[in-house]
Amino acid sequence: MKDSYDSPDDRNLLDQTRQGVIGQPLDRPEGRLKVAGQAPYAAEYDRPDCAEGVLVGATITKGRVKAINRDAVLGMPGVLAVFSAPEMLRRAAQGGAGEAPMQDVRQVEFPLQPIALVVAETFEQATHAAKALVVEYDDQSSKAVLVPSPGRAEPAKDPTENGDLEGALKDAAHVVDVTYTTPGHASAAMEPHAAIAEWDGDSLTLHGSLQMVKYNVDELADSVGIPSDRVRIVSAYVGGGFGSKLGISHEAVAATIASRQLGRPVRVVMTRQQVFQAVMRRSETVQRIRLGADSDGRLTALGHEAFVSNLPEESFSEPVLQATQFLYGGENRRLTLNISRINRLTAGSVRAPGEAVGMPALESAMDELAVALHLDPVELRKRNVPDQVPGEGTPYSSRKLVEALDAGARAFGWDRRRPLPCQQREGEWWIGMGMASAARVNILAKAEARVTLRGDGTVLVETDQTDIGTGSYAILGQIAAEMLGQPIERTSVHLGDSLFPQGAGSGGSWAASSTGSAVFRACEAIRAELARGLNCAPDDLQLRDGMAWVEGTEPRPVTDLMDGDIARIGRIEPGELMEKVKQATYGAFFCEVAVNAFTGETRVRRMTGAFGFGRVLNAKTARSQCLGGMVWGIGMALTEELQFDHRDGHLTNHDLAEYHVPVHRDIPEMEVLLIEERDAAASPLQAKGVGELGICGAAGAVANAIYNACGVRLRDFPMTPDKLL
Ligand code: MOS
Repeated sequence: MKDSYDSPDDRNLLDQTRQGVIGQPLDRPEGRLKVAGQAPYAAEYDRPDCAEGVLVGATITKGRVKAINRDAVLGMPGVLAVFSAPEMLRRAAQGGAGEAPMQDVRQVEFPLQPIALVVAETFEQATHAAKALVVEYDDQSSKAVLVPSPGRAEPAKDPTENGDLEGALKDAAHVVDVTYTTPGHASAAMEPHAAIAEWDGDSLTLHGSLQMVKYNVDELADSVGIPSDRVRIVSAYVGGGFGSKLGISHEAVAATIASRQLGRPVRVVMTRQQVFQAVMRRSETVQRIRLGADSDGRLTALGHEAFVSNLPEESFSEPVLQATQFLYGGENRRLTLNISRINRLTAGSVRAPGEAVGMPALESAMDELAVALHLDPVELRKRNVPDQVPGEGTPYSSRKLVEALDAGARAFGWDRRRPLPCQQREGEWWIGMGMASAARVNILAKAEARVTLRGDGTVLVETDQTDIGTGSYAILGQIAAEMLGQPIERTSVHLGDSLFPQGAGSGGSWAASSTGSAVFRACEAIRAELARGLNCAPDDLQLRDGMAWVEGTEPRPVTDLMDGDIARIGRIEPGELMEKVKQATYGAFFCEVAVNAFTGETRVRRMTGAFGFGRVLNAKTARSQCLGGMVWGIGMALTEELQFDHRDGHLTNHDLAEYHVPVHRDIPEMEVLLIEERDAAASPLQAKGVGELGICGAAGAVANAIYNACGVRLRDFPMTPDKLL
């Protein structure tokens, strides 16, 4: 069988298997280990003789490191070494995993950019010495660009131009021309960036907190100039990533270099503040959206002109337009993405890059169009579901947008909404309802996994796929158990070690569907082997609870058909279907808010999300991803915002005390509906990715509810009380 996935698999094998475990809301098997302290995180591996490294950040905004006064700190208690430019990488973490070139790190491009590593016997000694380290700079901070400005922007990608946008806007019955802004966001995973490096001769082992082990091996090998087969990375348990651990970062490279030189293990753990200041951010955006519609509410014109920023020479630009390309009609369109170069830390992929910020702006503008049309916002969206991708003519694979809009509206009680603002008041509070669509591109990524059906009937799944808290351990075990007809208890899953076959990694919502497809294919090969043992066609093989049979015959233990272990490697890679069919996931958000008429405070009272993303592989982990996305949406709408000091560009709110994410008290009862769907074009599992869908538009539903409550249309996220009053 070819590895690439080129033609839709309509067989629904997973609907015919008998074990009944696929899709079930099973607990994550590593969950108990994690909360009981039994799942070691990167920094928690015990290594005898491990030295401790602490990173030092530049105190200028821009310039060059002239000299580092090592001698003064080398005399301090316990200090072993100081590593400095040019030995260290300026930065590595960014969207395009796999590209982490060595940089001339004497050049400082943003405040607190890591420029040195102090290593000592203890963390306290290293921290003390790091604070005492004196660095001389050629300070060019006055030349730093601190604030993004559209006037200095360059194109980040080729614009999409179809038809005549300006002409269509002129002829449109209704026009909306609005500009939305979103601030920078932090990933701020619970587990900070951490690494322990140790060398055995020429071979390196790194315990790291990473999302994409197979790429991270290449990046790390590249950064120290050794072949990839000399690098082993272990990233078995990861306390969240949200994009910040797609690529290797300062701590991994610094630990690796220090360990080689010192000939002993070195651990580097970034502080929460360092993670905020030095790893990466989501770019702020400015988005001008122009919508033109005929009197029936059908879009004739769609302009989405976005503007983002990054450091000089960084390749990543927040792909703001990603869903705008395919979600709605409007044949006359211009979509542009421009970028300006500024001296803030690297902008990279933060959860749902693109749609996370593009969709709230588009969906708020759509709400403004619905107001202009006196049309229900749900109806407006339904009238603009295109038959094929505008400007491309590409057909869609399975698409449950309309179903999600209808199911969500029904469950939420959308019919009780009053169309005009300021119609419902409870004491000090204005009450309102808003909605938004959800959309996110779907990607199948190259992956491999090994499945072993052991002589005793137990099942082993092995791949370097990571689990960043999203459910890989649970889901990959479920697929294998289902396909091989074994109870889930007899299945074990080993992840996050580069000695295993290369999984897809955790990124872009593709982990479960891609690495899951590799597991599926490995199991297909094992089933073929078992079928031979039973003298039947693979499709006639029935498996359940360790028994095998052909319809109408007596079940036999599957182990009777085996002569020892059966191990197979399954492979998948994207094929023609990725190009020929537009694959995406869809949904809808409905939200009720209360806005305080005197303080401007917004409380989200209820939120419902309905989502279609192909086959549901585990109803609990899928729902949890949707809930997490909606919580991010509430944070994005109301509180989350990186704030940079405009005098020197440093990040002022660099921890979770000052960067406000929602807490329990901010989150109401939330409802998640999973829409039944199979997408045969997406993967052999007929599953798509759900990881990031729940955030893609969620903040727009909150913003639209605020307008419906109190009649204030804010176009600058987050919608804090000072702006609302
Ligand atoms: Mo995701 S931002 O691709 O980890």
